[in-house]
Amino acid sequence: MRDSDTSGEREHLRRVTTLRLRQMKEAGQKIVCLTAYDALIARIFDEVGVDVIIVGDSLGNVFQGHETTIPVTLEEMIYHTKAVVRGVRRALVVTDMPFMSYQISVEEAFRNAGRVMKEGGAGAVKLEGGERVVETVARMTAAGIPVMGHLGLTPQSIHQFGTYRVRGTEPKEAQQILRDAKLLEEAGAFAVVLEKIPAELAREVTRSLAIPTIGIGAGVHCDGQVLVYTDMLGLTVDFRPRFVRRYENLAERIRQVVAQYADDVRAQRFPSEEESY
Ligand code: KIV
Repeated sequence: MRDSDTSGEREHLRRVTTLRLRQMKEAGQKIVCLTAYDALIARIFDEVGVDVIIVGDSLGNVFQGHETTIPVTLEEMIYHTKAVVRGVRRALVVTDMPFMSYQISVEEAFRNAGRVMKEGGAGAVKLEGGERVVETVARMTAAGIPVMGHLGLTPQSIHQFGTYRVRGTEPKEAQQILRDAKLLEEAGAFAVVLEKIPAELAREVTRSLAIPTIGIGAGVHCDGQVLVYTDMLGLTVDFRPRFVRRYENLAERIRQVVAQYADDVRAQRFPSEEESY
């Protein structure tokens, strides 16, 4: 009893690796993934057993208050990665390469990914795009930098597409997504995020790859799911796409407790004698 408890505990604490994620796919075990941007939240997710924590450049929207992810810098991604890594013992931490940190040249992308790993402490990087980033992905993975791809809706290209509509609804676009996914796998990517594409297309991509797919708005057939944590906890109240399940209404809860605190301060109910020296 004691022994199995200990090995169960060890299993629970075993670090999630890219190999482990592939084994999970093979075993039909779904991969649980969430974003995080600081140590406090990352620690909670890690303790609960979230497998992959993505330091998403969505922090540009939800943390910094920008309209898009475009303004986020490499330095900011490294800063948030350092914080998240401090809170994590088990999960694989994957950091987004921000806009223009990997598009200029393969060499520059390689150097920047190295900084995210060395200075930030990430376990892997994520970059958006298919065919056009394949050479970069190959260069990184050949040097031991694990790369997660990101296909479908790629928010860094918002100004090129001009809309956040579902991707891959037309046969040509769907074929390109499938082709891009295979190219990323061949280039050595260990997983691919599929964002906002039809569930049937995500099923086809998932079936045709040996590496796991992680869906966000891509249906139930992906090997894992990710959500931006502020969306699923109900902190980002104005953002309500169909694919977000809101598990909590934290914005409302915070409003209530802060109003309570304000009342207590104004009525001199806080601090009490027990809370004073
Ligand atoms: O930036 C982000 O949060 C993402 C998610 C899809 C994981 O890319």
